[in-house]
Amino acid sequence: MFRIPENIAQLGKERIEGFPVEGFVYGEGPQHPKLMLIGEAPGEFEVVDGIPFIGRAGKELMKSLATIGLTREDVYITSAVRSRPYKWGEKRERDGTKTTRKYNRPPTQKEIIAHAPILDYEIANVQPKLIVTLGNVGLQRLLGKEAKVTELHGQLLEQPVRCLQSLDEPTFSWTEKAYRLVPTFHPASVFYRPSHRPDLEADWLAIGKLLQQIEEGQDG
Ligand code: URA
Repeated sequence: MFRIPENIAQLGKERIEGFPVEGFVYGEGPQHPKLMLIGEAPGEFEVVDGIPFIGRAGKELMKSLATIGLTREDVYITSAVRSRPYKWGEKRERDGTKTTRKYNRPPTQKEIIAHAPILDYEIANVQPKLIVTLGNVGLQRLLGKEAKVTELHGQLLEQPVRCLQSLDEPTFSWTEKAYRLVPTFHPASVFYRPSHRPDLEADWLAIGKLLQQIEEGQDG
């Protein structure tokens, strides 16, 4: 199992202090895995158990992994932000009374920058054969705002990725190293846009084929 050093986790926790987020979920998986999956941020269930992708989206993700013969244990799972971004909202109960509760929300740019040293460390040290970004947040963290999952999903890209230029400034520069990555949709996207499902399934099959090719190339 790969685990980020405590000083990097601590740095991330300090940098995100004061933002409306809660909990801290470590990335999880082996070093040198076949895949590194980069999501958005943990949700309600993940921060309770400290395990990434165990909620509804996680179940969907595990189904996709299974289609190419992989399980959670084979891959390294992380995300742009390691704490749960929340917002307060009203919930109307069956009896008509209203209560306030926390809802998940996407992380802001500032939160993504606060936790950038964590993902930078993981990308530099986990050394997967292939990176798969899940949704626009993970994709744009690595490639910038112009990158759109609807345009790039299922394609193999080999290029440098964005990393924080310095701990004191909110600007990204590019890694010297080029990484292999394939963008795909966030597993939760099929809940609100079921029409994405065929594309999502095709992307995962393409990822499986690519992995096979990479492994055959390495053996030969
Ligand atoms: N979405 C993510 O990006 N990560 C999780 O752990 C859960 C949902």
